[in-house]
Amino acid sequence: MVRIAILMAMKNEARTLLQSLDLRQQKQPFRSGVPFELFQGRFAKAQLSVVVSGTDPEFHVDNVATVPAALMTYLAIEKCNPDLVLNAGTAGGFGGRGCEIGDVYLGSGTFCFHDRRIPLPGFDRYGIGRYSCYDTSSLAAELHLKTGIISTGNSLDLQGKDLQLILENQAVIKDMEAAAIAWVCRSLSVPMIAVKAITDLVDEGAPTETQFLQNFHLAVKNLQIKTIELLQHLQKIKDC
Ligand code: ADE
Repeated sequence: MVRIAILMAMKNEARTLLQSLDLRQQKQPFRSGVPFELFQGRFAKAQLSVVVSGTDPEFHVDNVATVPAALMTYLAIEKCNPDLVLNAGTAGGFGGRGCEIGDVYLGSGTFCFHDRRIPLPGFDRYGIGRYSCYDTSSLAAELHLKTGIISTGNSLDLQGKDLQLILENQAVIKDMEAAAIAWVCRSLSVPMIAVKAITDLVDEGAPTETQFLQNFHLAVKNLQIKTIELLQHLQKIKDC
């Protein structure tokens, strides 16, 4: 039976998806102090685990961005031994590169960072990452999804130098987790796919945070629909 782990940073991103799946929340799945939540069950013939990053005990908000994402990925792989990791979440997109609010993308090409600037020989390229992405082109065509390079950083807003690096990375999508998850998956040789729904256009319109809040519900609904379609489709490919 194929095992799939879906990793999600925000509980409100995961809620709609979890409501549509018949999963059971595991009590204390990780050692004490680890905030991540684990939901498990069957999806058709697959063993499905959804891991959500949980809440920071001091700031009482979701554990977003790269540090929790990397740890969550490592622990999810240790605990669930997945054949495939899916990173599902929301992201910003470039209107000038064809993104529209509510679009759902599959990451393609590479996973990059845009806020790890280390201008030393070798470290400069290490900072960017550019980890190879599983070829998602036929999956995207089947599911009528757009594809694009995802660039990851630890900030929701977009500053000048980050923008320059995102453009150099030829990214279409800006998020806060994918490349960190990709680094762990690359290290542990687990294939990874990122599915991202667009809440905001980083090069157009109102400030990111305003767009994010305005469009979150639409993006999360579309993310849920497309993630379910993706899971159904993966079953067919794997014939599990
Ligand atoms: N998640 C949703 N919108 C985002 C943005 N603009 N940057 C990073 N992560 C995001």
